[in-house]
Amino acid sequence: MQADHSNSDRLTISDTLGRPMRDLRISVTDRCNFRCTYCMPAEIYGERYEFLPRPEILNFEEIERLARIFAGLGVNKLRITGGEPLVRAQLPTLIESLTSIDGIDDIALTTNGFLLPKMAADLKAAGLKRITVSVDTLDEEIAKQMSGRPYGPERTLEGIEEAARVGFDPIKIDTVVQRGVNDHTLVDTARYFKERGHIVRFIEFMDVGTKNGWKLDQVVTAKEIIETIGAEFPLEPIDPNYYGEVATRYRYADGSGEIGVIASVSMPFCGTCTRARLTTDGRIVTCLFAAGGKDLKSLLRGGASDKEITDAVRGVWSNRGDRYSELREAATDWEAGVVEGAGVGPDRKKIEMYQIGG
Ligand code: GTP
Ligand code: 5AD
Ligand code: SF4
Ligand code: SF4
Repeated sequence: MQADHSNSDRLTISDTLGRPMRDLRISVTDRCNFRCTYCMPAEIYGERYEFLPRPEILNFEEIERLARIFAGLGVNKLRITGGEPLVRAQLPTLIESLTSIDGIDDIALTTNGFLLPKMAADLKAAGLKRITVSVDTLDEEIAKQMSGRPYGPERTLEGIEEAARVGFDPIKIDTVVQRGVNDHTLVDTARYFKERGHIVRFIEFMDVGTKNGWKLDQVVTAKEIIETIGAEFPLEPIDPNYYGEVATRYRYADGSGEIGVIASVSMPFCGTCTRARLTTDGRIVTCLFAAGGKDLKSLLRGGASDKEITDAVRGVWSNRGDRYSELREAATDWEAGVVEGAGVGPDRKKIEMYQIGG
């Protein structure tokens, strides 16, 4: 492990590929009020599906303590995810407690927006800095099909309006693109949010988890997405905001804002991946495509000291060598439309997206 004390008295740790740990994505619940076909298909996650029982879920004190420990190891950005984070009771209380952690200068949230109309103001008041809302399409029928629920996009759009009204700026919109499902609606999505000054990030459909039936021919590549949007609204590439940014940015040539593409299938970005993930039940996961993670909850509940937990996290990160998306890309034959290689592709054992929130 390499370690240094650059820029602050906090430790910076690196993994086996020299990547520091900068972001912690905290999943606060594995439940969700949607059943997106690419994440929690309704036919598998029915009314009887058993999500984590309450005692297994980290409480707010435990989450805050871990977040402090991660901050001590170089994390400066937190992202709250789920499942759907807004279904976790009292979420603003947690956010408020996280704002007091030394070294954390950014707290963001990823949500499907359905509960935002009533929660945006409380989240803002609690000190949440940034918000990202998932909107896959504006088309009523396709939205219902993709979300697995009988809701069109209206409530989510109201939530975005409310978030803007209470002062979230910029607001980012995540749009997963699936060929043959919503790819013909991208220009409408781009236009709607361009007019309102929000940043859409179009995401290549990924083989996360084991339940979404991913196939390479359902992936619309970033290049195609940029060509489609650019044909309607001319685009120019722009530089990343920060080291390791997931989205590749473009601005509208007419000066009306920007979009991004997240090209983890066609142009993977593992080389700069600084993200650690914490599951609802207290495991640290070092890659979106990992099979599982190391349990920290039993340390927390077994009376371990901060130093012992710090050492455990440091041990996990310093052994990290994950680069799944790069391996998958190397195993991809784009012309033949197949992914063939040891340990990559849809058949590999992987954690589910709703357990780590993307
Ligand atoms: P900003 O902080 O606003 O730059 O956002 P972010 O880069 O933290 O991205 P966000 O959480 O909004 O991620 C958007 C989507 O990108 C996620 O929902 C995932 O689909 C995908 N994504 C994020 N991180 C990773 C990653 O580490 N690996 C892969 N393969 N995809 C990722
Ligand atoms: N491929 C790409 N993005 C996904 N997300 C969830 N599942 C996938 C997938 N298979 C994104 C969606 C979701 C966010 C949490 O992660 O934008 O809202
Ligand atoms: Fe819920 Fe998000 Fe998964 Fe959709 S992608 S089912 S909104 S957790
Ligand atoms: Fe990071 Fe894994 Fe995604 Fe690569 S595939 S960017 S290592 S989370």
